Amino acid sequence: MKVGVPAETDPEETRVGVVPPVAADLVDEGFEVCIESGAGERSDWRDTAYRDAGCEILEDRNAVFEESDVIARVNGLGAAEDDDSHLYRDGQIVVGLLGPYDLEGELEALAERGLTAFALELMPRISRAQSMDALSSMSSIGGYKAAIVAAERLPKMFPLQMTAAGTVQPADVFVIGAGVAGLQAIATAERLGASVRAYDIRLEVREEVQSLGADFVELDLETEGSGDEEGYAREMDEEFYRQQRKALTRVVGESDVVITTAAIPGKPAPELVTEEMVDGMDRGSVIVDLSAATGGNCELTVPDETIHHGGVEIFGPTNLPASVPHHASQLYANNIRNFLQNAFEGDGQTLDFDDEIVDSTLLTHDGTVRWTHPAREGEPDGETAEEAGDGEADADD
Ligand code: NAI
Repeated sequence: MKVGVPAETDPEETRVGVVPPVAADLVDEGFEVCIESGAGERSDWRDTAYRDAGCEILEDRNAVFEESDVIARVNGLGAAEDDDSHLYRDGQIVVGLLGPYDLEGELEALAERGLTAFALELMPRISRAQSMDALSSMSSIGGYKAAIVAAERLPKMFPLQMTAAGTVQPADVFVIGAGVAGLQAIATAERLGASVRAYDIRLEVREEVQSLGADFVELDLETEGSGDEEGYAREMDEEFYRQQRKALTRVVGESDVVITTAAIPGKPAPELVTEEMVDGMDRGSVIVDLSAATGGNCELTVPDETIHHGGVEIFGPTNLPASVPHHASQLYANNIRNFLQNAFEGDGQTLDFDDEIVDSTLLTHDGTVRWTHPAREGEPDGETAEEAGDGEADADD
């Protein structure tokens, strides 16, 4: 099995799919690895390090696609405007972040090309999959960097300072959504000395928030049914969000920094901070909206732009991990290695389609689309015969 690593084509993407230590691990396990020359350059992983790890360095980008059985990369299809789909060949396997929730006709096209495509975004939330979960590893970096960016942009310091020239109070930081990104933002803001409060719709995170030294904000809302069996938040109705915004208004208005991370997989991010709420914040305050890629938690967020509104800065980065490319690539490549180690059966050649992780992340295989967008579940076209059978059984029950 030959694993090929092309350079990323999105100009904003600085990460690389495989780093030299991971390439060395793969070679030890019997994989061959080839990499497009310079693919690791933007994350400070040099060709020489890949060569020392036992990789073949290919100058010709097309050769990486032609020679490899498996393509391991960050953005599975390449740049959004000019994607790499045409370079994939029949029977090839691709592992990466493929943005499945945004794919429509592209899925059929990938299937028709005979591609076996794995989207790491669909990793199941089971303990065994944690080491392969790229969303978690990248969210953790995003949360860390969100706190750093906020500290940099705020015209105040984060920590309490007691000096001969006077005392400066710590900045008030409010983190909305205490999942992987939110917890890391809390931990980082705490380390920088801010006074941190956090809120999540899933009340079970209260103790995790408190164990990081932050205060958990309790809202008087009925949150029954807000979580699913996998640990994700569920989409609530608009009346719930209206009440939530009302209850959050006071805390947002008291904060110097608001970091929002609230997300629902496959759905637009809930709008939790309105323009009116921003109007209630002091001039100089900063909002970092980590949900910008899925519509934003703040009404005023524009992806990858900084909006100035009444003296408040609202920043909606969509790829903060790319601003820490060396470590982001290292963790991402570990996820890829762990995925490949798990996906192939003992012979190192055959994919184990009975494995829950392989099955859950599989988008296309053998000429067919194997994944259904949650929003299309139950529709005749998006439904497998097996699912249709399950539905009938449920109805009978
Ligand atoms: P996420 O990125 O989907 O969402 C971020 C956070 O936003 C979540 O904590 C969610 O509860 C919160 N949220 C959603 N709607 C909200 C609203 N209206 N108001 C306030 N907060 C809202 O989730 P993430 O960060 O990936 O993880 C969620 C949980 O899953 C965590 O407890 C995490 O530890 C767990 N997890 C388990 C894994 C495994 O077992 N393999 C892997 C990854 C996460």
